[in-house]
Amino acid sequence: MSRTYLVTGAQGCIGAWTVKALVERGDLPVVFDLSDDPRRLRLVCDDEQLTAVRFVTGDVTDLDALRRAIETHDARRIIHLAGLQVPFCAADPPKGARVNVVGTMNVFEAALACGIGHVVYASSAAVYGPDQGRGALVEGEAGGPTTHYGVYKRANEENARVYHAVNGISSAGLRPLTVYGVARDQGMTSDLTRALKATVLGRPFTIRFGGATDALYAADAAAAFIACADRCPEGAHVFNLHGECVEVTRFVELVEANLEGDERCRISIAPPPLPVASHMDDAAIRTLVGDLPATPLEAGVRETLERFRDLRRRGMLDAHDLEE
Ligand SMILES: NC(=O)c1ccc[n+]([C@@H]2O[C@H](COP(=O)([O-])OP(=O)(O)OC[C@H]3O[C@@H](n4cnc5c(N)ncnc54)[C@H](O)[C@@H]3O)[C@@H](O)[C@H]2O)c1
Repeated sequence: MSRTYLVTGAQGCIGAWTVKALVERGDLPVVFDLSDDPRRLRLVCDDEQLTAVRFVTGDVTDLDALRRAIETHDARRIIHLAGLQVPFCAADPPKGARVNVVGTMNVFEAALACGIGHVVYASSAAVYGPDQGRGALVEGEAGGPTTHYGVYKRANEENARVYHAVNGISSAGLRPLTVYGVARDQGMTSDLTRALKATVLGRPFTIRFGGATDALYAADAAAAFIACADRCPEGAHVFNLHGECVEVTRFVELVEANLEGDERCRISIAPPPLPVASHMDDAAIRTLVGDLPATPLEAGVRETLERFRDLRRRGMLDAHDLEE
């Protein structure tokens, strides 16, 4: 029997990979997104896979719309990814709070109204402040975010704790840092992916941060969200996600090692590091939720370059995100 998942923000990067994984195993994703533009989904899924998807154009700040979408499609699981990333929250903090904080509370309220006892939502490693050289961080060490975005994500984690204590809704909040892969095209940490796209298109590109970061393949991020929706134990959990901690200089070396034909690597790096700690410990999710895929960074870089090359050959490699 296929299961129905409401996936908010599923026209985005992690959402597109989540939809692909759900369809591949025969489940039914209901895409709930403000945008009705399936361009990221089309980069990741083929046309036949998309016929198995249901679409609702809706805003997470609208509680009634969320409730209607759940009821209409009889969704029993919720993966909440809709949100505005760091630069958009910085440009309009009240709007960032409406979408990221109120929107997340609406998802919990809709779950409550529809009798759904578990919510999986995207938090972020931005709940940690800048790197303090403390090594791999565990979940309880979150503190000192330097962006409104990080504060909003932290507020969501605390609200999730209250929804569990007061209303009995269990949850898992996942904290990725730098997700990369085809369809990652906005937000500060999208620079790793955009550098790969620029390379395939023969263009120069500057990654706007140096130092180290925790790079997680988009398919692995999606797998973690689905695993938590399927089998996270009761409670209000918050989990780090961890891919591979890498110096940005090393990332560029990996690109150089995987060039093809007449491709040249024209990537440069702006020195300031991200304002987010770079070493995440993911023992908690692996212990409580179980085995999760862990694509080695070099394999993820190679696969992303190959997918971009294939999209270019098919005339589907949109470069609008390189114009920023
Ligand atoms: N990508 C990363 O590296 C990363 C890292 C940490 C946390 N996250 C979090 O994971 C989630 C997904 O990230 P992503 O990279 O897929 O983001 P994305 O920017 O690619 O996609 C976000 C999606 O949310 C939708 N959205 C925005 N406002 C909405 C609203 N009011 N109602 C409904 N939909 C709305 C957008 O249309 C978009 O499709 C976000 O919450 C993000 O903050 C991402």
